[in-house]
Amino acid sequence: MDRSNPVPVQISASEAAQGAQQWLRMLAQAGATMLPHLDQSVSNSPSEHWSDPWSDLWRQVIVVPEPSHSAPSVTAQPPAIPSSASPTRQQEIQPPTRSSPAGSSSAHSAPKNPPTASVAPVETTARPPLAEPSRTTPSPNLKSVIQQVEKAALTTYRDWDDPTRVIQLRQLEEQVTACTLCSDLVKFRTQPVFGVGNVRPRLVMIGEAPGVDEDRMGEPFVGASGQLLDKIIAAMKLRRQDVYILNTVKCRPPQNRNPTDTECLNCRPYWEGQLELLQPEVIVCLGAVASKTLLQTTQPVGQLRGAIHEYRGVKVVVTYHPSYLLRTESAKRQTWDDMKVVMNVLGQAP
Ligand code: URA
Ligand code: SF4
Ligand code: URA
Repeated sequence: MDRSNPVPVQISASEAAQGAQQWLRMLAQAGATMLPHLDQSVSNSPSEHWSDPWSDLWRQVIVVPEPSHSAPSVTAQPPAIPSSASPTRQQEIQPPTRSSPAGSSSAHSAPKNPPTASVAPVETTARPPLAEPSRTTPSPNLKSVIQQVEKAALTTYRDWDDPTRVIQLRQLEEQVTACTLCSDLVKFRTQPVFGVGNVRPRLVMIGEAPGVDEDRMGEPFVGASGQLLDKIIAAMKLRRQDVYILNTVKCRPPQNRNPTDTECLNCRPYWEGQLELLQPEVIVCLGAVASKTLLQTTQPVGQLRGAIHEYRGVKVVVTYHPSYLLRTESAKRQTWDDMKVVMNVLGQAP
């Protein structure tokens, strides 16, 4: 993200009238909850809560009245960007048609084609490189808005509304809520902790089992480990809400003991169902319980990390558990190396 662009920016009334506003508004509608960087660099709004960065960006755009003697280049020329009335544009921002969601191979491949072309300001067939001059000359301010939108789009994840997936995840969550398979765990749990995050994630992170804080809050990684995980995610230039976070075992083991093999086996269908619905591009296994269970291996984390593994066709990267990192400061560097591999897979330069 180019932080040199001053915000808020102003664009002229005629530019807005000629379609820029509609275009940006439409991006706000089509745009996602998953836009790394944009909210921090554009709006300075806290990124802890769910936000819509496209809208945040739009709120930074101030439309100023045209001076009476009328501005030169901007008004004289057609808009640099098509208005939302353009049929091509409208067609482009339609959410992709979905076939049966769970397990279908088309659903799996869908997230691998980010909709970068749909936000190109001029060309409609292919996305022009950022440096390519547009055919008209918008004001520097409008240019800056366009550049920010474009750059954001480059790091955008496809995150169209997906009510089907949300409903299916909720149905699965209801099953988990009602599950009493592990007698040792149900005695002590406050609630099962299903998982949280973006329903169209490129990246899924899977931990071990809820701790005391997670058990109380009903959300994974909200305690001390969670705070470290948040830092790891931020270092990857992502936000917590960009990824989906879940655990191998949904109920807190008493005294924070490790989950047993039986408990891992009992809970397996739940995270398998989640991954099937989420169809991420990369899965990060945090610690030994997740990596051993997912990859069905007895190898320790130290031997599994440093390579890209596979779970049902999805890339898997193994790293240390955040709670291990809290005890073993020196391992943080290795986890960062592992996260760089993940960023590389996601096409994100560290
Ligand atoms: N450790 C985990 O493995 N998962 C959590 O949700 C919290 C701590
Ligand atoms: Fe059910 Fe999983 Fe909880 Fe065991 S850990 S009771 S399988 S939800
Ligand atoms: N042992 C490890 O080597 N890594 C972990 O994350 C946990 C235990």
